[in-house]
Amino acid sequence: MMKIGIVTVSDRASRGEYEDLSGPAVMAELERYILSKWETHVHIVPDERDEISAALVELSEVNGCSLIITTGGTGPAPRDITPEATRDVLEKELPGLGEAMRAVSLKKVPTAVLSRQIAGIRGSTLIINLPGSPKAIAECLEAVIAAVPDCMDLIGAPDITLDPSLIHSHRPHKLH
Ligand code: MTE
Repeated sequence: MMKIGIVTVSDRASRGEYEDLSGPAVMAELERYILSKWETHVHIVPDERDEISAALVELSEVNGCSLIITTGGTGPAPRDITPEATRDVLEKELPGLGEAMRAVSLKKVPTAVLSRQIAGIRGSTLIINLPGSPKAIAECLEAVIAAVPDCMDLIGAPDITLDPSLIHSHRPHKLH
């Protein structure tokens, strides 16, 4: 079964000062799109480079997650460090995913250019950064989700099936 990691990056949510709305928003979007069986491993970490990287490595290597979605910490504020922490653990960047998310988002909100979100591969794990707001999460995931099944096929991850009534996933590398 596919394992998916969700990492909420937020100083205040990690201290329990407010309820984490971002992690559940990622979960709700994934539940909407994914028809095949999957299970989640969830982390809430502060905006600390080492703690974010450590969560990504644990989810990839200990928990065996094929997909990890981070949410938050992608902007220009002093504590925003998620893209750097992600880059620290990636073996290959997939710049197209960040570009696609910014391009789509820019049509919705002018401040989308402030998001520095990246994506890439570590071993057989795809890691994708999303911004923190639930609205941004939905808009950004919609921009890239169609490419995720093919990426999973290419990195040798378990099968993932998306709801064809919502999204057409182009899968030229699927093994039958
Ligand atoms: N992308 C989409 N699709 N929709 C949005 O509302 N908000 C932007 C941007 N990307 C937004 C978006 C804003 S206001 C910021 S500051 C950056 O994401 C970074 O957000 P983060 O720091 O929560 O990661």
